[in-house]
Amino acid sequence: MGARKGIILAGGTGSRLFPITGAVSKQLMPIYDKPMIYFPLSVLMLTGIREVAVITTPEDQPQFRRLLGDGAQWGLSLTYVTQPSPDGLAQAYLLAEDFLDGAPSAMVLGDNIFFGHGLPDLLAAADAKDAGGTVFGYRVSDPERYGVVAMDASGAAVDIVEKPAKPPSNYAVTGLYFLDASASERARSITPSERGELEITTLLQSYLREGALSVQQMGRGYAWLDTGTHGSLLDAGNFVRTLQSRQGLQAGCPEEIAFEQGWIDADALRALAMRYAKTDYGTYLLGLLAES
Ligand code: G1P
Repeated sequence: MGARKGIILAGGTGSRLFPITGAVSKQLMPIYDKPMIYFPLSVLMLTGIREVAVITTPEDQPQFRRLLGDGAQWGLSLTYVTQPSPDGLAQAYLLAEDFLDGAPSAMVLGDNIFFGHGLPDLLAAADAKDAGGTVFGYRVSDPERYGVVAMDASGAAVDIVEKPAKPPSNYAVTGLYFLDASASERARSITPSERGELEITTLLQSYLREGALSVQQMGRGYAWLDTGTHGSLLDAGNFVRTLQSRQGLQAGCPEEIAFEQGWIDADALRALAMRYAKTDYGTYLLGLLAES
């Protein structure tokens, strides 16, 4: 088994955010001072993952390439894969099958933003599990909008359903999935749902049936932010702005994580910082050098 690889699913038409997504992908929209995709990418980097496939629509791929390049600036190796039509989240495992080449994976949805002090530990625990899958349960007031997981008293998953009219619990399944090497093979055998999509929930059910699905709670100390509407997108940006300006620390900063992981050295960080010399972001990166 090879090292775990990452997938960022950043396809879709962004139709719920029209007209701002009329010409630019949703996952490139600003979350205050940085593109949305920096946040899910940071989650994979915090897990220690350096090989990442970025799945986009064919039209949007050039812009993602322009922004992220081959990833070498952050000590990463990025591969671009296109999703010709948005046929469901589980399709990502088929599209990325060659890229994964038998490795376990961590897939994160390109519009999911996570923040929390304990995140690296939570990610490390999921990464340490070789067999089966791990999802993260997050308590929400409106579970019917999400995949929902029900657990027994010991915290083991007993049911997982997509957008249920009558949710079996208040725990939404976040858009972050740690699956073993069998994910692509399982994805091949699932059938489209009523809305015509290969549902991630159907794929997760196949793990659940075998008792191979773990649920980790993302407790009240975490933020899992919604970016699905104009209002929630703005709220997410304001959250990040409030946090960053109060703490003087960046959230979702690939340069910082790459430097802390030892994937880039001080000279490389300085060169990146100089690109952003006119911004607070650049000042922050230079500050990291001064502190180190
Ligand atoms: C998708 C999944 C759902 C999950 C959600 C997390 O929903 O189908 O299970 O809870 O992502 O963001 P969608 O955003 O496609 O409606």
